[in-house]
Amino acid sequence: MPRFAYVNGSFLPHGSAQVHIEDRGFQFADSIYEVIACIDGVLADERGHFDRLARSLKEIGMAMPMPRNSLRLIIRELLRRNKLKNAAVYIQVTRGVYKRDFPFPPDHVPQTLVITARPFNFKRNPKIRKGIQVFSVPDLRWKRRDIKTTALIAQVLAKQQAVERGGYEAWMVDDSGFVTEGSSSNAWIVTNDGKIVTRAATHDILRGVTRSAIEKICADMHLQFVERSFTIAEAQKARECFTSSAVALIMPVVKIDGKVIGGGKPGPVALKLYDAYLDYAAKGKQVSWKA
Ligand code: PDD
Repeated sequence: MPRFAYVNGSFLPHGSAQVHIEDRGFQFADSIYEVIACIDGVLADERGHFDRLARSLKEIGMAMPMPRNSLRLIIRELLRRNKLKNAAVYIQVTRGVYKRDFPFPPDHVPQTLVITARPFNFKRNPKIRKGIQVFSVPDLRWKRRDIKTTALIAQVLAKQQAVERGGYEAWMVDDSGFVTEGSSSNAWIVTNDGKIVTRAATHDILRGVTRSAIEKICADMHLQFVERSFTIAEAQKARECFTSSAVALIMPVVKIDGKVIGGGKPGPVALKLYDAYLDYAAKGKQVSWKA
């Protein structure tokens, strides 16, 4: 089946969809992106992802490429043309095409908008039932990690190091020895007294939309959600660890730097949150995302 991508107003065969060589996304990573899970035809946490897209764009001096309703229609049409109900939807907005120069191009230069949809079976991801292995790496990124830009080389290198050591995700560690987040996910521990801990969402991390949903789910389930930093040593001694993202959803971590967590099996809290998130998404529940 031919796949389709959306590029600047047209649905094109995925294999030949292109942007210009002088696109600022290509040359400067001058662009913002979002990833949204479509689970059984429902865009999970759509509102939160649109909120964050608008905010990331604003932080780098850009506007939303079009009203949310239009964006929503294009995503639905793309999913329909690709005959997909379970997919990772990728949205990227760049500052457009202009001769290579660092300052912003003139206002009349249109943004580039690309949307793709890749099949992904969120409900039958075998990693959820097995758990994943994480390796720690130094966090080499800039100081505005709250903005979801495509300048992802530090995360690419982090993930590659983890993969080369047989892991699936890298947890990045700041200069004071505290975990910031995963290369493409937020990092969590469940303490031995049952607290569900993740780092505070300052400029040091990306405030995950899934993270915000988990905060809400914890409140609904009377679980104690705590924002504070933790070290790899604390995580290795925790009752459970997990990561969260629009693709991983809630992914149990069973080993960190070779040390087995919680008997090497996904923990009950992570699995409960995973099921609760699927239910939350299926019912079309949403949290509004605020920076
Ligand atoms: N990444 N932190 C980082 C650095 C991320 O790249 C992501 C998501 C998250 C989790 O955010 P959310 O829950 O809103 O997906 C946290 C996406 C999935 C990616 O880059 O593919």
